[in-house]
Amino acid sequence: MLIAIIRAPQSSHARRALILFVLVSAQAVLGISTLIFEVPIDLALSHQAGALIVLGFAIAHWRAFVGSYPAEDARPAVSR
Ligand code: HEM
Repeated sequence: MLIAIIRAPQSSHARRALILFVLVSAQAVLGISTLIFEVPIDLALSHQAGALIVLGFAIAHWRAFVGSYPAEDARPAVSR
């Protein structure tokens, strides 16, 4: 995250890296709270939902590295 902010400040990659850092930190705080309060159902469900959000955002962040999908006519033809 720091490298992204230093090397490419103001870029969407740096912004997404910062958001991912905040999400993971919030998820860790939620996980620790869940443990401290002996797993109340609302905190436990929030923690599980947070894990889904973190996973989805991390995949979207990773996918942005790969670039855009190839155009329909740029794909190799399938031999039959
Ligand atoms: C930061 C990244 C974290 C992620 C992505 C994450 C993800 C998850 C997931 C997916 C579950 C559900 C597991 C299941 O149902 O079998 C879970 C459960 C749990 N996690 Fe985490 N966790 C994180 C951090 C933490 C931390 C730092 C703690 C506490 C020290 C913690 C404490 C717990 C507890 C107590 C449960 C059982 C209660 C529940 O299902 O919500 N987690 N975590």
